[in-house]
Amino acid sequence: MKIVYASRTGNVESIINKLGVDALRIEDGSESVAEDYIIFTYTDGYGDIPGEVADFLENNSANVKGVVVSGDTAYGDAFCGAGDAIAEEYNVPVLYKVENDGTDEDIENIKNAINM
Ligand SMILES: Cc1cc2nc3c(=O)[nH]c(=O)nc-3n(C[C@H](O)[C@H](O)[C@H](O)COP(=O)(O)O)c2cc1C
Repeated sequence: MKIVYASRTGNVESIINKLGVDALRIEDGSESVAEDYIIFTYTDGYGDIPGEVADFLENNSANVKGVVVSGDTAYGDAFCGAGDAIAEEYNVPVLYKVENDGTDEDIENIKNAINM
């Protein structure tokens, strides 16, 4: 399935690179996709969906099928909260929660979670 991602400081982009997938990067949220996709995002604020990701999802709500989310456990209860918020708003599964850019084991788990 198509992969779409957002990355501010490079962690999510590093995961995408380690997966070796061809993916669309969200820059400002105005991008559009005409096929089913899985979204990879980081978490902003306190458990928040990054602004450009929220805009992208509003524009492409019909085709989102799942979310892989990166966060930092230092945020406690808000760890990977962007994924939970997307899951609730768009009724899609959180396929995987990963800390920062993940371990080799995370990369393998993500491959399984997205059926690669
Ligand atoms: C301002 C700011 C707010 C953040 N808020 C959260 C948060 O609420 N929950 C969380 O799990 N991680 C949070 N993070 C951590 C990032 O989501 C995490 O480091 C992620 O891997 C960043 O991905 P990127 O490098 O692709 O941008 C925050 C990071 C920053 C800089």
